[in-house]
Amino acid sequence: MSIASTARVVIDLDVPGPTISRHLYGHFAEHLGRCIYGGFYVGEDSPIPNEGGIRLDVVEALLALDIPNLRWPGGCFADEYHWQDGIGPKADRPSMVNTHWGNVEENNHFGTHEFMALCELLGAAPYVNGNVGSGTVREMSEWVEYLTRNGDSPMVRARRANGRDEPWQVPFWGIGNETWGCGGNMRADAYADLARQYATFLKDHGDNKLYRIAAGAADDDLAWTEALLKAVSCLGCERGPKNLFQAISFHYYTVAGTWEHKGSATDFGLDEYYATIRKAQDIDRVIRGHSALMDAYDPERKLGLVLDEWGTWWDVEPGTNPGFLYQQNAMRDALVASLHFDVFHKHAERLVMANIAQTVNVLQAMLLTDDSDPGGGLVRTPTYHVFEMNKGHHDATAVPVHVVEQPTYGSMELVSASASVKDGRALVSVSNLDPAAPLDVVLDLRGADVRDPAGRLLTASKPQAFNTPGDPDAVAPAPLSVEPEPRGLRVTLPPHSFATISSAL
Ligand code: AHR
Repeated sequence: MSIASTARVVIDLDVPGPTISRHLYGHFAEHLGRCIYGGFYVGEDSPIPNEGGIRLDVVEALLALDIPNLRWPGGCFADEYHWQDGIGPKADRPSMVNTHWGNVEENNHFGTHEFMALCELLGAAPYVNGNVGSGTVREMSEWVEYLTRNGDSPMVRARRANGRDEPWQVPFWGIGNETWGCGGNMRADAYADLARQYATFLKDHGDNKLYRIAAGAADDDLAWTEALLKAVSCLGCERGPKNLFQAISFHYYTVAGTWEHKGSATDFGLDEYYATIRKAQDIDRVIRGHSALMDAYDPERKLGLVLDEWGTWWDVEPGTNPGFLYQQNAMRDALVASLHFDVFHKHAERLVMANIAQTVNVLQAMLLTDDSDPGGGLVRTPTYHVFEMNKGHHDATAVPVHVVEQPTYGSMELVSASASVKDGRALVSVSNLDPAAPLDVVLDLRGADVRDPAGRLLTASKPQAFNTPGDPDAVAPAPLSVEPEPRGLRVTLPPHSFATISSAL
């Protein structure tokens, strides 16, 4: 192992910043490959233990993450999904072709009731993404009525006929997805008008208050964001379209290569490792761009910014359906996640929600399952562990973090960190992004005394390491020794590692 580098991280524990919404740790489940079918849902007749067809091993594993919200049914699938096909007796539900993802037949056995049951099992708030691309205003409006209205109405009667008396609470609603692409290939102004129109008919029924999210930009397409901002800005108006939607989304994937050759999830060299870290770090610039534009139109920060798809996107695993986006998940992916969270915490005043793509068996998943294993073959990925180790940041108060000394690779910073305070405890997250050298880190904790520190470490023999059913803990958290320092704490991090240090205040 190389000689250790040193880092100094100054943390102002007594300077409260914004609240880190737990919704920054949100999830995404699309009808894509084996995310829903095989991943979340195996049907009532499966030998895999299930409740109403929903896998209980998957639910149990995800309960440890305190998933705050779950986005469904897409992604691109959302804009070809017709919700009325997914209610009522399963035998009567019509099939369709999932044209975006593998051209496979979708039997609609997992529909609205199944999704709401899944959210209830997970304790997660539903985030339903409606269909703008091939749906109608009436269809979307009736879906909201079906889900959330009480009393008596045509949609309420339909819901009751399908076995659900009480309305559900549905806080989050997406108005289409990637409407610049798979969601309809629209131009920004055309979609901005549609977003206003659809939002008008997405009603609050009873005490259900919808948080309407307009489908936003790819990456740093600020022109798209600006068109949406103009659509709801009525500067100086008393009446106007101001409150039609409450948030604007955008998507950002860590694609280290090109879209044609994205690279392998597990077979990569140093150049690809650094390219990945560089691409992931760029999320900071992208969020700053959208935030600055939003500040100009919405200085009071009433509109939220929502990153409802993020994560690594590699070439699919050899031998798997290219339309199913099934990829392995290595220690490198865990570092991509940890540094995204550091950036999210920093921007928590404007960034109100983020959703990793996707929860099971697709892209940067928490869990991978194995269809050939009669027991279901469930594996927790390295990324899963970052979500679990970081959950103390949910709804905590962010505090300023300054990495004042650190190793670099060219201009690339090799230390990433963030911190928060909640319920009389501080939680610090630190990543050593150097793939070769260990790191001695001094946490210079200012503004409060810390007691009883405890550390946890996630690392592996190499950045390419991943978990399998035969070796499920090749990358798993372990205790980390934390030493006192005159002004704080000291930890030593191995290469390519992520750590959390918590302490009483
Ligand atoms: O997450 C996979 C796909 O990526 C989604 O369906 C789409 O919105 C994005 O392009």
